[in-house]
Amino acid sequence: MIPSQLQRNVVRTDTPAVYAHYIVTTNSLYPLALVCDEKDRLIGVIGSGEINPIKNDLIYQNCGEICNSNFCFLENGSEASIYSKARNIFAEKQLITLPIIDENKMPVRLFGKWQAFFRESYKDLPYFFYAHGLLSAAKYAKKQGYNRISTIEFGVAGGRGLIHMELYAREISRLANIEIDVYGFDSGKGLYSPRDYRDCPQEWIEGDFKMNINGLQSQLYKAKLVIGDICESTKTFLDRFNPAPIAFISVDVDHYTPTTAILDMLLQDHKYYVPVVTMYFDDVLDTMEFQGETLAIKEFNARNETIKISPEHTRFDEIWMHSESSINDWKNIHLSAMKWCSRFEHPLYTTKRTSNEIL
Ligand SMILES: C[S@@+](CC[C@H](N)C(=O)[O-])C[C@H]1O[C@@H](n2cnc3c(N)ncnc32)[C@H](O)[C@@H]1O
Repeated sequence: MIPSQLQRNVVRTDTPAVYAHYIVTTNSLYPLALVCDEKDRLIGVIGSGEINPIKNDLIYQNCGEICNSNFCFLENGSEASIYSKARNIFAEKQLITLPIIDENKMPVRLFGKWQAFFRESYKDLPYFFYAHGLLSAAKYAKKQGYNRISTIEFGVAGGRGLIHMELYAREISRLANIEIDVYGFDSGKGLYSPRDYRDCPQEWIEGDFKMNINGLQSQLYKAKLVIGDICESTKTFLDRFNPAPIAFISVDVDHYTPTTAILDMLLQDHKYYVPVVTMYFDDVLDTMEFQGETLAIKEFNARNETIKISPEHTRFDEIWMHSESSINDWKNIHLSAMKWCSRFEHPLYTTKRTSNEIL
């Protein structure tokens, strides 16, 4: 069977060509339709090179008619050989996605140019702040002597963010030589009803951002979903899962109430965290300091002396909110949603440096 993570890229010869167009324009990491026969053998591919010249006539054609059957592919093998062969192909040809096939010609994996050259290209990727946050967190953790860490997305919704986080974790794991476990927390049924003004009722209503749990599960490799109210699951998660030390956290829950529960989890034993946890707060750019994540961070810092989240304040960005800013402005602005949770009494907080030479 073709792996479930690839099913969204698979079309058949009689699939209308517009469906391939949909794959190519909406799949940000692997914009390639895989045309498979009835035995699940890969017989052609459709990328932007096949779609663009005939865009206006697509409606009359099917995938079998427009696919490229003389396509580049890689045979499944060791990671090292896949990476080096892919790098050579991407350097030579104008391709961005390569299918990897097994001995029966069945597609088993897709490989992107962004993977082959991750370190140089991650800043152009969707959810690049996940790539950036996790890469710096992994490098820091490795330097502190960790060989395995965890990363968490609080607030998963349809799963776009978690899917990206998991794929980036895989690349970063290889680059930083560290194992990375990925967790996603969500109610599964969208936002709860706002409790009071602090949960931003001017923006949100109950049921916003529902999740298709089984649909998402089938697109994940090893990432674990923790389904339930974050106000409850954060109380038991560390005991139940005994995760590797947590190094990167994304908070994207929109409401104040679950954010306070997430921050309370930071107060548990140091063994569950690296000394400085990298954090991304999605909603600090568009909420004022009396509501949502921004208020929760302010109160957390006021309550705790030796565990602090910094920088505390993030400017409400009116330009971003009210202008048609370019994608690059948007990306830069999102970097200012990164924060660091420092655990001053963590046994590994103090530098390991023994010489007075500053590196
Ligand atoms: C904006 S969406 C997340 C989007 C996601 N990070 C992405 O980029 O694709 C917010 C999510 O937070 C979840 N959420 C909010 N409050 C929650 C709570 N108390 N418990 C569990 N999930 C919660 C909602 O179910 C919703 O899916």
